Order: sequence, then structure tokens, then C-alpha cells
Amino acid sequence: MKRRHFLMNFTAAVGGLVATKAIAKMEHTKMTGMTCELNSDDCNKGDNMHEHMNMNMNMNHDQKPQKLLPTSSLKQNDNLPSLINLKNESNQPGVFEATLHLKPVKIALTPEITTEFWAYNGMIPGPKIEVNEGDHVKITVKNDLPQATTVHWHGLLIPSNQDGNPQDAIPAGKSRVYEFDVPKGNAGTFWYHPHGHETVAEQVYRGLAGTFIVRSKDDPLNSLPEQHWFFSDLKLTDKGEIADNTMVDWMNGREGQFVLINGSYRPKIKVDSATRVRIWNACSGRYLNLSIPDCDVFLVGTDGGLLSEPVSLNKPLLLSPAERAEIVILPKKTGTVYLQSIGYDRGKMGNVPPEQDMLLAELDLTQSNSITLPSTLRTLPKLGQATAHKKLEYTEVMDMKEPRGGMLFLINGKRHDMNRIDLESKIHEVEEWTIHNNSHMDHNFHIHGAQFMVVSHEFNGTKTLPQYVALKDTVNLRPHETITIKIQQNMPGLRMYHCHIIEHETLGMMGQLMVK
Ligand code: C2O
Ligand code: CU
Ligand code: CU
Repeated sequence: MKRRHFLMNFTAAVGGLVATKAIAKMEHTKMTGMTCELNSDDCNKGDNMHEHMNMNMNMNHDQKPQKLLPTSSLKQNDNLPSLINLKNESNQPGVFEATLHLKPVKIALTPEITTEFWAYNGMIPGPKIEVNEGDHVKITVKNDLPQATTVHWHGLLIPSNQDGNPQDAIPAGKSRVYEFDVPKGNAGTFWYHPHGHETVAEQVYRGLAGTFIVRSKDDPLNSLPEQHWFFSDLKLTDKGEIADNTMVDWMNGREGQFVLINGSYRPKIKVDSATRVRIWNACSGRYLNLSIPDCDVFLVGTDGGLLSEPVSLNKPLLLSPAERAEIVILPKKTGTVYLQSIGYDRGKMGNVPPEQDMLLAELDLTQSNSITLPSTLRTLPKLGQATAHKKLEYTEVMDMKEPRGGMLFLINGKRHDMNRIDLESKIHEVEEWTIHNNSHMDHNFHIHGAQFMVVSHEFNGTKTLPQYVALKDTVNLRPHETITIKIQQNMPGLRMYHCHIIEHETLGMMGQLMVK
């Protein structure tokens, strides 16, 4: 009976897509030319709600229903793999020189399942780049993918012409050299991923992403043992192939049935002393709301490096796509517990199942002696009074003439155009940006070329201060939330800003800033 009800909802939804839960949520969005049909036979196949969802909402009529691999097919409980370092080919001090080679690669996930990924140097995730503040970095990128790409060094303060803008594509079969100095004060937890025009979603879900750590000589936490948890998402068909994006993926941001840490599904992680953990949410669309039981957890760093002082966390750590955190964890007891992502309702569209808690890893804890964290971690830069102001508004628009589900996600009413400059900033000017999420779904905001500080959150007319002062390059916005940030761009050139739910970015929820 339940299922029937679901299908009926669904058929209605297909005639006009937004006839179900989505319509209630979208009363403020414009709808134009909704003319899609669905082969109704397809509506009655498939075994579970999730599959119905995917195949029914997939508007590519020639596409077969998406059958996914059961999660029991991949091995769990391997020890957490270490990230593999990209080898520095230079022997000059202060120089990091290396090669990233992008190509399709077949990886045996189990004796039965071999999957073709697109990878940097054949690895999922890509190799870890580790440099020191002030280093000169020179990376040759060889593109042997069937399509153009760029490499964006997410969060690094480097010149715009080295930052992988969509305008600077590396065509299939070609290479280029990225060369930049990592400035002092830019120590932190970063990553790299493609940023080509309209190709980012596919290139990321096929496996292209890697870590980039910048170390500082006077890091007060240098003596702590360190772990790296790089979260990515994998969606496999029942044949073990990387699944295409469905319409639901395009609307809500892709979520696969597997969440990987350092490329491993539900690994076993040992924590036997106070440990610093760098965490990346490199998932396309998934929000992680991390709960670490039976440990004291201190937040010590964010996207832009260390906080000024440690902050004790007494609730799950929410990381929207592309956000990073550095934490110190201290096991309070000995035993096995589970690292989970606690269900977080981000206002997905369509008839999707409610958010559930998700098991991510087994934690093998050894009760540890407490340590005293330094009360000051660093002095954050002080941005002066803002002398310029900018406003952004996020909206959702339905247009059934559009491919990929008909959803358009806009910034200030516009979709990304590589040939349009949306905003201009004066180099070194301190600016205040007000960003309003005028939609029914969480979206986040990311900008290239700078680390900003959140000044306030505003919700239903009530302003609140952020819980702590931090440098960020990505920040989440709840539906109808307004945030104000302070930002200063210190290098000239073109910069992107966008929602980092990668499907939204790829659909054009992105703008271009020219710094002069
Ligand atoms: Cu992580 Cu514009 O990107
Ligand atoms: Cu970026
Ligand atoms: Cu978004």
C-alpha cells in the first residue's frame, strides 16, 4: 500500500515534476514549460523505493533504470589506508616539483568487481601533496582523459592564472605546468580537483580529487600524531560501474551508496593517544555531520588553517561539501565505537527518503592521558573596516526545457557564463559580502583566491555571531539564511565563487569576480 502511494505520487510528479513534496517547497520558484513524460512501464519495475526514485526521476528516457550495487558487496573493516604522498622530484630546498597524470584506470574493488575510475596517478583519492609555507610549487599535469580538465587548488592563496579557472582548460591529450609560491600564513588543509566548464560533476564523481597540506614551521600542534580522513562518495551500479547522475543527483547533489575514507569503505581506525585529525569533505553533494563517541573532541582548525584557540565540540561536526576541519581527539575509554554521520535534513527536493544516521568507520579507541592544548594556536589576521559591500542571492528556478532535471540554481538571477564578469573588486580592499539563500535547500558558498571570516548569521530577522572566529573558504547557508562575511582579495585576476554542491556548480550556480 505504501509503495503504491509512493508510485502515485511519483506519476503525478513526473507529469509536472514538482507535483509532490517539491511543489510545496518551491512556491517561490518560477516554473516554465514543464513538458516531460515518462514511459509509465518503467514506473513499475525495480525493487526498492530508492531505485524507483532514481529511475523515475531520471529524465533521460533512453537510460535504463539505475540498479545499484548492494552495500554488502564491498569489503569493510580494512585498516584505514594512509594517503600516499606525491613524490617531490626536486632536490632543491623550498621547491616542490612533481607530475600529476590524469587517466582512466581500472581498479579491482573486490575479486569480482573491477571499476573504471578517472584518477590522478592511478590512485583514489589522488596523491597527497605536502609542502611548507613559502615553498615554490611546480606541478606538471598531463591530461589523458577523454575530455578537457583543469586543476583547481582549492583554498590556496595563489595567482588566478594558476588556479585552474574553467577558462584555462587543458585539452584532452595535452599537458600544462602549474607554478606558484605558497605564501606565508597559508598553512592548512586544502585539496585539489577539476574545475573545467560543465565537466566538474562527472570528473569528480569518477574519482578526481586529492589532498594538499601546507605545513608551517611554527605549528604549535606539530608534536601530536596526525591522521588524515578524506571523505569521498562513490555510487556504483549493480555491475560495479560508476553510475551516471540521475535527475535527483542533479537537483540535490549526488550521494552514492558508499562513503569512503581515504578510498576505503567503512575502515577500521585506531586512535590510541591524543591525535590531530585533518578532515576533508570531498563528497559531491553529501553533508557530513560527524559524531565521534567516547572522545573529547576539540576543533583546532578550519578551511584556512588553525583557529586562534581550540574550541571544545559538544555536538556533531557539520561539514558541507568542500569544507575541511582539523580536530584533536582524545579517547576517554578503551573499546570499539562507530564514527557516524548523524542524519541532517538539508531540504532535498523530490520524494526522497528521510535522512538517516550513517555508519562511516569503526573506531578502535585506547583510553589516553589527557593533554594540555596550547591556549593560543595562532594570531589570525585582522581585517579592518569594510569599505565596499556586495550582495548575493541564491535562487532555484524550474525550467523543464533544461536537460538534467530542469532545475536551475542561480546567483543574483543568473547562471554562470564564462564570458561575463559578475562582480569587480579592488585589490586589497576589505569588503563585506552579504549572501542570502532565498531557496528551500541548504547551499554553501565558496570563493577562490581568499580566506574570509564570517561576521554574522541571520535567520528570520535574528542576527547571531559565529561560534568562533575562523578563516573559511566555504560556508554553509540554511534555507532563508543570510550570512555576512568579510573578505579581502590580495591578487589581481579572475576568481570564481559558487555553491560547492558540485552538481549545482556544474549546472551554473557560479559567478565570476574580477579583481583589479
Ligand atoms: Cu573546490 Cu571552485 O572549488
Ligand atoms: Cu575553490
Ligand atoms: Cu547548491
